Amino acid sequence: MKKPRLVVLTGAGMSAESGISTFRDSGGLWDNYPVMDVASHDGFVRNPELVHSFYNTRRRELMAVKPNAGHSGLVELEKWYDVDIITQNVDNLHERAGSLKVLHLHGELMKVRSMTHPERVYTLTEENPDTSTATRDEYGDPVRPHIVFFQEAVPNIGPAMDIVSQADVLVIIGTSMAVYPAAGLVDYARRGIPVYYIDPNPAPVRDGITVLRTTATEGVRQLIEILRP
Ligand code: OAD
Repeated sequence: MKKPRLVVLTGAGMSAESGISTFRDSGGLWDNYPVMDVASHDGFVRNPELVHSFYNTRRRELMAVKPNAGHSGLVELEKWYDVDIITQNVDNLHERAGSLKVLHLHGELMKVRSMTHPERVYTLTEENPDTSTATRDEYGDPVRPHIVFFQEAVPNIGPAMDIVSQADVLVIIGTSMAVYPAAGLVDYARRGIPVYYIDPNPAPVRDGITVLRTTATEGVRQLIEILRP
């Protein structure tokens, strides 16, 4: 029998219990770094070295942490569901936990791409995670972080809308729903399907969404109880 389709939209709160800071909580990343300096198109044009260095630090943080029980719980749900994860996170913790289908909306921290041939994307190694304005690819071209900066289009939003529209169950975990177009994806779900939102400090959402006001690890544990056949 075909498994029902479970689509999970994740944000920074998914990785918080692994030890990665969220962005907008108090003490979050955007309190400590001016977002338009380190994560916007204009910021990169103005001071590319600062942006490279910001993402070098993020990569080193990522390499020091592990997926949490929430990430592994989503892998467990693959026993009963055809699970698609659509993440705003640039970390690779869903992949490292073992999730089979992960679509990144905002890019991937461990990747860079050619600035002259954007289709040339490269995965960095843990031995060599740092880049700078001097880094060149195998063709001698400069590279940039494979991150969707503010002011840039989100290339994976079309495929993401398509996946959400096929969901039989939709789950949202750990996002303030402040950043569009990601925050609008929930509107592409078919009318009447169950929608769950796990977050200890949830954003206001429309009626009909079941809010589990708790952390990702505890929320995914409860979700498995609810969703397992
Ligand atoms: P935010 O920092 O805006 O929101 C994080 C959410 O996680 C909040 O709603 C918190 O309540 C929640 N949270 C905190 N701890 C949690 C936990 N243990 N378990 C579950 N949830 C928890 O992060 P995002 O919504 O992901 O983009 O931000 C969206 C985008 O804005 C990011 O992808 C990033 C940022 O600028 C780029 O950098 C391109």
